Amino acid sequence: MSRTIIVSNRLPTKVLRTDDSLTFQASEGGLATGLGSIYQQAGNVWVGWPGLFVEDATEEGYVREQLRQDSMEPVFLTEDEIRDYYEGFSNSTLWPTFHYFPQYATYEPAHWAAYVAVNEKFCQAVLAMAGPDDTIWVHDYQLLLLPAMLRAARPRATIGFFLHIPFPSYELIRVLPWARELVAGVLGADLIGFHTFGFMRHFLSSVSHLLGFTAHNGRLEVGQRTVLVDTFPMGIDYDRYAGAAASESARQHEASYRQVLGDMRVILSIDRLDYSKGIAERLRAFEQLLVRHPEWRGQVSLIMVVVPSRDQVAQYAALKEEIDELVGRINAAYRTMRWTPIHYFYRSFPLDELASLYRLAEVGLVTPMRDGMNLVAKEFVATKANDHGVLILSERAGAARELSDALIINPTDLDQLTAALHEALVMPADEQARRMRAMRRLVRQYDVFAWTNLFMSRLAYAKQQQLSLDTD
Ligand code: G6P
Repeated sequence: MSRTIIVSNRLPTKVLRTDDSLTFQASEGGLATGLGSIYQQAGNVWVGWPGLFVEDATEEGYVREQLRQDSMEPVFLTEDEIRDYYEGFSNSTLWPTFHYFPQYATYEPAHWAAYVAVNEKFCQAVLAMAGPDDTIWVHDYQLLLLPAMLRAARPRATIGFFLHIPFPSYELIRVLPWARELVAGVLGADLIGFHTFGFMRHFLSSVSHLLGFTAHNGRLEVGQRTVLVDTFPMGIDYDRYAGAAASESARQHEASYRQVLGDMRVILSIDRLDYSKGIAERLRAFEQLLVRHPEWRGQVSLIMVVVPSRDQVAQYAALKEEIDELVGRINAAYRTMRWTPIHYFYRSFPLDELASLYRLAEVGLVTPMRDGMNLVAKEFVATKANDHGVLILSERAGAARELSDALIINPTDLDQLTAALHEALVMPADEQARRMRAMRRLVRQYDVFAWTNLFMSRLAYAKQQQLSLDTD
């Protein structure tokens, strides 16, 4: 029986060392939470890094065995590999470049060498798992070279690739000394998917500038092969989020928070710690709301959850300090004995508590500077069964292409953001319901299962076309 082998840098489960025992926890981030619901179907396997440095072969064997019981195959990485491939090339070169922060990017040949070597390591791990009829689905920017490596080893394999982050303009990509290799690496796939048409267009423009291949109707002729390129806006597991919000446990958490908050109105912000998310800008807008509309003082609180992420990378550590300082300053300036303007949490929450925060919130504030999709926006919508609540959404999140009934803002425009916060707080209930209902319908219909089915059937089609070309 043929299976799908999902490959990503991070597994949906991360292993943590606490004192002298190991614990297994759900990973953070859109990719892991998004795909976490589908990988166990039909005997599929997920290959990736478990987030732990193993101490010896016994521990490695133990972790491997535990993860295998859950359909995961670990790729263990060393501390040097994590420093140079993950913190280095992936998160200090590619991430800032692809999110339009080239001023944060570093260009280190040693990081590039580690990136090539770790992609090769993943290639060996996948080849050891994959049978000739299996479908290999590679995910995200940490593994851009992997499709071509797999193709070289298995010319007839079925390989899909999906990019979860933006693909930037050619003008940014061309700055990278390794731009050609990266784009050629992705072209090893039979099907390449993006969240939006804009990202796909940028990719095709880079392919044409760097490698000279021009697409016709989403098809690239690469030597003897045809590569399909298309857009697949990723969805969430709607029932999981709607169910969590309706659960008894979420209601109980909400009730206990309400005891503390009284009838305080709540704006909610949830992100991984990342400069691409516009967290500091959001805080400044909230402060400006309190200045321009003093009537909201004592009436509305911002609950801000920042999930720790990549804090070994300098820009992330600096951002953490900036956020700490801003929250401290704003709270110190405006708080009263009865009112805390910003409730700030620097940690992750289990799903039922997260769902209770979504329940509490009247306004969901999602204002990234750049974001591939942003699944938090869709999660907020999925939890609003009563159609009460307003989503404020950055025009530069992939989700804005679909969730056009949100209040769409430019996150750099502080005045617009402040005005949107006020507008959300005074929006009549019937307008909220009309907008929310339309968004909820969309998020429910195009959920992560629909997304996967669409990608997989398109990949099967791509392969079929390829095979009929081979036999012609
Ligand atoms: C984004 C990326 C994912 C990544 C996640 C968490 O969603 O697209 O590939 O896994 O962030 O980041 P981390 O570096 O902790 O894996």
